[in-house]
Amino acid sequence: MSSSTTKLLPAIALAFSLLASISPAQAEGDAAAGENVFRKCQSCHKVGEDAKNGAGPVLNDVIGRVAGTYGGFRYGDDMVAAGAAGLVWDEENVQEYITDPRAFLRAYLDNPRARAKMSFKLRKEEDRANVAAYLATLSS
Ligand code: HEC
Repeated sequence: MSSSTTKLLPAIALAFSLLASISPAQAEGDAAAGENVFRKCQSCHKVGEDAKNGAGPVLNDVIGRVAGTYGGFRYGDDMVAAGAAGLVWDEENVQEYITDPRAFLRAYLDNPRARAKMSFKLRKEEDRANVAAYLATLSS
């Protein structure tokens, strides 16, 4: 083995161990951190046993829910249309939705005039993954 290869090996090993430690964190959110992020949603969304609809629908069991179907909440027509077209929330699409609800609905419905009743956008990718993981813990 040449001396330059010997010097490179530790660097390569380090690169691989860094990759191994970073990738899972990006793929799966941290639910505990997501509970903190959820404070940003709480002005509109309640969770837990006695949760009631507010400006937004209750988010218990939202992962696995057909979009726009929580009882007693008046959704926008386009959210109801998305549910009727087959939109079911999962940990991935919920992250896309909270990135930009209007853009999400427009893309999903292929309708450039679709409107979203939720105007809030969560800008940090890490926050989105974490809050999605938190929501998953509220779903049976
Ligand atoms: C300013 C109020 C407001 C905030 C803040 C807000 N939302 Fe919403 N959210 C709404 C409204 C209103 C709707 C209903 C949208 C519609 O009918 O088009 C909604 C809908 C949703 C839905 C779809 C629920 C269903 O039953 O189909 C999800 C998921 C959601 N919000 C997640 C979040 C998360 C996560 C956060 C925080 C990161 C958040 N929202 C912050 C108002 C809000």
